[in-house]
Amino acid sequence: MKKECVLVSGGAGYIGTHTTVELIGAGYDVVIIDNFSNSEMKAVEGVRQITGVEVPFEQVDTCDEAALRRVFEKYDFNSVIHFAAYKAVGESVAEPLKYYRNNLVSFMNICALMREFGRRNILFSSSATVYGEAEVLPVTEQTPRKPATSPYGNTKQMAEDILRDCCAAYDGIRGIALRYFNPIGAHPSALIGELPRGVPQNLVPYITQTAAGIRECLSIFGNDYDTPDGTCLRDYIDVVDLAKAHVAAVGRMTREAMKSDYEIFNIGTGRPVSVLELVEGFEKANSLKLNYKIVDRRAGDVPAVWADTSLANEELGWSADRPLEETLRTSWQWEKHVRGIE
Ligand code: WQD
Repeated sequence: MKKECVLVSGGAGYIGTHTTVELIGAGYDVVIIDNFSNSEMKAVEGVRQITGVEVPFEQVDTCDEAALRRVFEKYDFNSVIHFAAYKAVGESVAEPLKYYRNNLVSFMNICALMREFGRRNILFSSSATVYGEAEVLPVTEQTPRKPATSPYGNTKQMAEDILRDCCAAYDGIRGIALRYFNPIGAHPSALIGELPRGVPQNLVPYITQTAAGIRECLSIFGNDYDTPDGTCLRDYIDVVDLAKAHVAAVGRMTREAMKSDYEIFNIGTGRPVSVLELVEGFEKANSLKLNYKIVDRRAGDVPAVWADTSLANEELGWSADRPLEETLRTSWQWEKHVRGIE
């Protein structure tokens, strides 16, 4: 029987590589496209090494409609997972047009070509950032979205709406938006992981780089929040668990099991973890001590957000399984691999 094929845009990135590995493990064919704006060929090679499959790769910018069209002409996929996007919140505030153009033009190109070529399933990489500072926790998919506080966040909301409207208007197009909480960790092989350029903005890469001696000291942004230990609460989801959620969502689409043409799922663990707990968990998991200090709050941080994952658990038959301690071990293994430590 012919295998289902999935196009993965941004497939050389952090979540794209892990998702490709899980898709192949689940029996799918995958075609990766990426423009390497924030990734490199080594990531694709890591995927090929883990899977033992010469995964087809095309260096294509999804904003380049003509180049993207050639991918549609060349490969016979019926589903796309669209990861290709910029994701730095601060940069998006400084350069909004860069974000709106890249994140929205690329997605509209994908949707238009899916329609034109009669391809069916679109899975969009959304974010818990759409919930902003929610009044009731944990957040469900019904929790109202808050006006975005950055152009980055706004592109996630707008792309969700574009997908919703395309699914409503165009016969044969269906979509799922997965709202990720805080993805962390790496593949247990340590052959793929997150590769932030410059000073990391996210907590775990900053922790691992501090442990590696690249950063002197981790700053914990505020310990005077109204939370049990005063530091912010987040829902840290292992990237391999997150990748498996994509496999479950693609399976739901290809099995024709969707209940409506556009669906949204929260993808998290359902467990709130504080910054301090995460730091201490990292120390314990890896038997090391981390240099850290408490500093002022970071502008724009919400005190707490975590997922109600019941819908994904029930409808996708998926749940996050990996214990946090193991995830934090893989984060450190990956950092050591990248830096050539040990
Ligand atoms: C987590 C917690 C910080 C760094 C952001 C985006 C979101 C998503 C993921 C994607 C917070 C604290 C952090 C540090 C710290 N998008 N922290 N010291 O802010 O929840 O989400 O990244 O690509 O859209 O908004 O994640 O990892 O930056 O922060 O104390 O050096 O760690 O204050 O409480 P966040 P984060």
